[in-house]
Amino acid sequence: MSMKIPFFKQKESKANETSDSDNMPRHVAVIMDGNGRWAKKRGLPRIAGHKAGMDVVRDVAKAAANSDIETLTLYAFSTENWRRPTSEVNYLLSLPKEFLHIYLPELIENNVRVETIGDSTVLPDHTKDAVNDAKSKTMMNDGLLLNFALNYGSRYEMIEAIKQIAADVDDSALSLDELDEDVVSRYLYTNNLSDPDLLIRTSGEQRLSNFLLWQCAYSELWFTDILWPDFTADTFRQALTDYQQRKRRYGGV
Ligand code: IPE
Ligand code: IPE
Ligand code: MG
Repeated sequence: MSMKIPFFKQKESKANETSDSDNMPRHVAVIMDGNGRWAKKRGLPRIAGHKAGMDVVRDVAKAAANSDIETLTLYAFSTENWRRPTSEVNYLLSLPKEFLHIYLPELIENNVRVETIGDSTVLPDHTKDAVNDAKSKTMMNDGLLLNFALNYGSRYEMIEAIKQIAADVDDSALSLDELDEDVVSRYLYTNNLSDPDLLIRTSGEQRLSNFLLWQCAYSELWFTDILWPDFTADTFRQALTDYQQRKRRYGGV
């Protein structure tokens, strides 16, 4: 049994928060990378890195909620991660259940809503059940939206959207003249979310790895060499502060 750690209980002193609430990102997306390398450096199996990374999820969710971020989207398992050894895949897909077992009560207490994006149909039942339980118990909450990308791949998402658009055009539910960026966005898993303002990737890799390719068209990117299990709420707040200094131009001047 893991020890129950208060989730948002002690709201950290405001001095610890980004001082300026202006210009805060509404939606932050994170590619949580480097768990395997973190474990390897310690002579541990890769899954030890995934386990350590799970607790960082809680710390970052707490920091996001305390910084009044609306949506935190975390890349937990990609459509390409099936290429890993079965034992590692199984472990990764057991983590949502483990995370929710420990933290769901506090998520509920703190008005967090849990959602997912990705193709859940092929996930193991125990993963689906835990996630569906968390979604239904938090669906009325209107605080932080904690959104896990689980079996998510941007190209797959786009193919599914294109198929659905074609079907709706076929059925005359949609006309091609109506098709614009907003309509396409509504066919994606992220249909009711704003695009990420800030995308963070840990571990020194600087690539998108099939994450939110449409949605990140104008996201600000923030990279750190820190491996995900070593990432902290302070590092997260540093990314927010850096974001606040950025000037987004969207092709204008
Ligand atoms: C990120 O860490 C976790 C997932 C991809 C699920 P990795 O497992 O990719 O760790 P590295 O990149 O091999 O160090
Ligand atoms: C991206 O990390 C996927 C997740 C964080 C879930 P990967 O480690 O799988 O990506 P690559 O292989 O470095 O591109
Ligand atoms: Mg990796």
